[in-house]
Parts: sequence; C-alpha cells; structure tokens
Amino acid sequence: MRSSSEEIAEAGYDEIAVPYQAWISSVGDDPRLGFLNDVLTRLPDQPVALDLGCGAGLPCTALLAEHGDTTGVDISAAQVELARHNVPKARFLKSSMRTLAFPAESFDLVTAFYSIPHLPRTDHAELFQRIAGWLRPGGILLATLGHKEIDEVADFFGAPMLTSSYGPKINSSLLRDAGLTVLTDQVLSWCEGYVTYQWVIAGKPG
Ligand SMILES: C[S@@+](CC[C@H](N)C(=O)[O-])C[C@H]1O[C@@H](n2cnc3c(N)ncnc32)[C@H](O)[C@@H]1O
Repeated sequence: MRSSSEEIAEAGYDEIAVPYQAWISSVGDDPRLGFLNDVLTRLPDQPVALDLGCGAGLPCTALLAEHGDTTGVDISAAQVELARHNVPKARFLKSSMRTLAFPAESFDLVTAFYSIPHLPRTDHAELFQRIAGWLRPGGILLATLGHKEIDEVADFFGAPMLTSSYGPKINSSLLRDAGLTVLTDQVLSWCEGYVTYQWVIAGKPG
C-alpha cells in the first residue's frame, strides 16, 4: 500500500520536474559527479547500477549508463518520462524505492542522490537492508542522507514535500546494521550553504 508521503512525492515531482531540473543543473558546485566518478574507479568495468530517485536522469543516470547496464527508478511519472528522453541507454521504472524488488546480488552500485529523505525515516532501516541485499559482494552504495533530525512537510519549488531523516550518526549506524561498511561519511554544504547533506559511500564486504 502507498503511504501519504509517497503520494506527496509523486504529485510534487510531477508538478515541479521541469523547474527542479533547471535549478539543479544551474548549481555549479554540486558534488554529485565528483562522488560518482570516485566510486566508479572502485568498481569493476561496466558496473551494473541502480539509481534510486533518479529524477530526470541528468547528469548521474546518464554517466552511469555510459559505463554499464543501468536502471533508474523514480516515483514520479513526469521525472521518468524526462529520464527516458534524456538517457535512452538506461532502463527506467516508475516505482517507489520502498516497494522495489530485485533478485539478491543484482548490482555493483546503488546510488541515491537527494531522494531517500523524501521517504519517511522510519522506512530507512528497511530500505538499507534491501539495498544491501541487492548489492553484490564488493558492491557500493553511494547516497546522500539527511544531515539533521527532521520530519516535516514544507514548500519545495511551490509543492509540498516531505523531508525526513535521522542525523548522520544514526544514518551511519543503520547502514552498519544492514551489513554495510561505511567508507566515507561527510556532511557537506554547497550552493552558498543553501544545500546540506550527509554523503555516504558504503561497501558490501566482498
Ligand atoms: C531532489 S530529486 C533528485 C533527483 C535526482 N536524483 C538528482 O540528483 O537530481 C528527488 C527525486 O526522488 C524521487 N522520489 C521521491 N520519493 C521517492 C520514492 N519513494 N521512490 C522513488 N523515487 C522517489 C522524486 O520523484 C525525485 O525525482
């Protein structure tokens, strides 16, 4: 069953897909590609990748698809439509990351840029467990998580949106509870301090 937060995210991103993409692609100091290029050097050639909450697919799903077999998932039909247009090499599923199912050990890399905090924080532990199951031994999760305790619906580009997270300490301990090794754990701010996230790179032991 869908939760109300999923209905909020779906409706909100259907509405703001285009202005969100215009804004995010104008942010010059966004660290996504730096982190993504870093983890790609740690993985086998042609990694099989899953991008959770892929949005319009730019630039991250597109970079993943240049390197290997890539699946993007997003709850918003408008975002999935943009992503299919922008990244024809990848496959896209319209689904909530909460209800996805994949066979065990399907992916070398799971990424989630700015998407997990739209899911209620009470669902994060289970999501991390499922991601750990989807990763192959030696695989990597690269994710942005909330940098502080928060659980509120607020205006985002004119649409209501849930932001829900624990702080970095609990986030990292949930990842460890899921059997992942936290390799990088950094809280970063950019866009003149307007955007702050905890960046994590977590590995599945080989
Ligand atoms: C802030 S945008 C980030 C998009 C993209 N990852 C990027 O880096 O630009 C968050 C994305 O997560 C998606 N999303 C939110 N909740 C989701 C859920 N439960 N399952 C899958 N996607 C979700 C939204 O539709 C939106 O496209």
